[in-house]
Amino acid sequence: MSRVAVVTGGTRGIGEAISIALKAAGYKVAASYAGNDEAAAKFKSQTGINVYKWDVSNYDACAAGLKQVEADLGPVDVLVNNAGITKDGMFHKMTPEQWYAVINTNLNSLFNMTRPVWEGMRERKFGRVICISSINGQKGQMGQVNYSAAKAGDIGFVKALAQEGARAGITVNTICPGYIATEMVKAINPEIVAKNILPQIPVGRLGEPHEIARTVVFLASDDAGFITGSTISANGGQHMI
Ligand code: CAA
Repeated sequence: MSRVAVVTGGTRGIGEAISIALKAAGYKVAASYAGNDEAAAKFKSQTGINVYKWDVSNYDACAAGLKQVEADLGPVDVLVNNAGITKDGMFHKMTPEQWYAVINTNLNSLFNMTRPVWEGMRERKFGRVICISSINGQKGQMGQVNYSAAKAGDIGFVKALAQEGARAGITVNTICPGYIATEMVKAINPEIVAKNILPQIPVGRLGEPHEIARTVVFLASDDAGFITGSTISANGGQHMI
């Protein structure tokens, strides 16, 4: 029987690559998205992967969305908490809206999404929770106090929850991508990318979404059962810890 995987923010960017890679690896995949209906429809027609619209910053919406996924595909075995946003700005100009939007979508979503599937994973004695954090949660990034705080929080979430899941056959890990060629990075002023970001990446290029997706497929597999609580960097050598 195929395992069921849910990928939040699974219709665009890194999430799209993750959804496609998990499907290719034999999973029944559900991709959630927040608002871009056009991109979701295109993704669905190209991949045949089920799409679901809900806001990961809202607990009730996540619980209801996951209930629908379980009714359609079966119990969730693999949860990929990928959805994330940026609202960059120097801290002295940052608004409460920029702060709370990023914390709610990038950090509170981990509770909202994981809590509703956790008890089922415990009962079935198998689960994989994979959170997509960021290099900027590891090292901090000017212009991203909100994002860096949320992404660092993701790493703490994983380290604590991994300890709780270990005896129940559930692994919980985080991947910290560096700068990947997605719309999120393309939204940065190209002059800043050329002057400040690319020179800091030893491999000399942005990463590709599929390079993150392959890591997710591995962490989801039975072979990765001894890896839990880990923070895996995939950043072209930009930051090593
Ligand atoms: N690294 C190093 N220096 C940076 C920088 C960066 N990433 N971003 C900005 N700076 C520098 C600028 O070069 C500038 O320096 P000078 O004064 O010497 O010219 C200074 O910081 C101020 O920058 P701006 O003039 O651009 O200030 P602003 O108020 O107009 O804009 C900003 C601020 C919106 C934060 C803008 O600088 C910006 O977008 N920076 C990029 C921030 C960033 O790296 N975001 C990552 C988004 S991708 C992502 O988050 C995915 C992931 O997980 C990696």
